[in-house]
Amino acid sequence: MPIILPPINRRDFIKSSLALGGSVVASSSLGVGRDRSAEFELNRVALLADTHISDNPDRSYPGTKWPGSPVKEEEHEWVNMADSLAQSAREIIELNPRPANLVINGDCAFSRGTKGEYQEFLRLVKPIREAGITVHITIGNHDNRENLWGLLPFLKKEQVGIQADIIELPHANLVLLDSGRKGILGDKQTDWLTEQLDRRSDKPALIFGHFNPLPTSGVRPCRGMPEGSALLKLLAQRKHAKAYIHGHTHDWQHSKEDSVQIIGQPPVSYYFGKGHAHGWVDMKLSEKSADLELCCIDSKHTQHGDRIQIVLKS
Ligand SMILES: [Fe+2]
Repeated sequence: MPIILPPINRRDFIKSSLALGGSVVASSSLGVGRDRSAEFELNRVALLADTHISDNPDRSYPGTKWPGSPVKEEEHEWVNMADSLAQSAREIIELNPRPANLVINGDCAFSRGTKGEYQEFLRLVKPIREAGITVHITIGNHDNRENLWGLLPFLKKEQVGIQADIIELPHANLVLLDSGRKGILGDKQTDWLTEQLDRRSDKPALIFGHFNPLPTSGVRPCRGMPEGSALLKLLAQRKHAKAYIHGHTHDWQHSKEDSVQIIGQPPVSYYFGKGHAHGWVDMKLSEKSADLELCCIDSKHTQHGDRIQIVLKS
């Protein structure tokens, strides 16, 4: 099971909205929601990755500073991570219709997933949950699942373990994988993925995991998952598996391997390359496509509003 943070004070909302089967659900009709006039759209999903929240909300970090960085010592760019997540949350809550679901694709925490980091993280995502949006989390290399579980008393015993599951939406299934701290899926999870995809071949699938499947050649080259090639082959053999969407590389990227589109999500927090985009992605699903739009923290960034389309049905 994945880590799911249900809307606060409205756990019944998820069951109710999914049971209705429609794509737009008015919160007022369900008797839930702080903003009772808000509509929740199952075909709209907010995509975040690499929030890297510190236990100190005032902390900024120079993401451009890494071994071998071409940026001069005095020219590093610093980003406040808590402010970036808080701004993203405000923008997502203001959407109309509001996405029913939000995925944070790993690296919620700044360092190694300490209790203090997750307390801050949960404080920052609380407004999203209070707005009626369900938050789904995958595990990244900076996360510590035990420490996060420890702060989620509502988690049931069966939800603790490998954090992989499926969000079934009207036009696509979102498959959330657990690429762990080292990008390793393991045989058990790979078998599970194969079985789940084969059982759901009637609907397009978008696969999410924190790690990039193949080495990237961006500004800060990043090794790929040990089983990345095999994973992409497995997906390419199933034509309904349309895309693999990952974090980890802190760079908004788009490539294609066979028939599978590979999307690198921007970090909410700090970027590795000077002036690179950071923010979140607004994904809208229809029968024919998944349309991704980049929402930069800096609305004047040249890539703000960038779009990528994943064809679901041609
Ligand atoms: Fe990261």
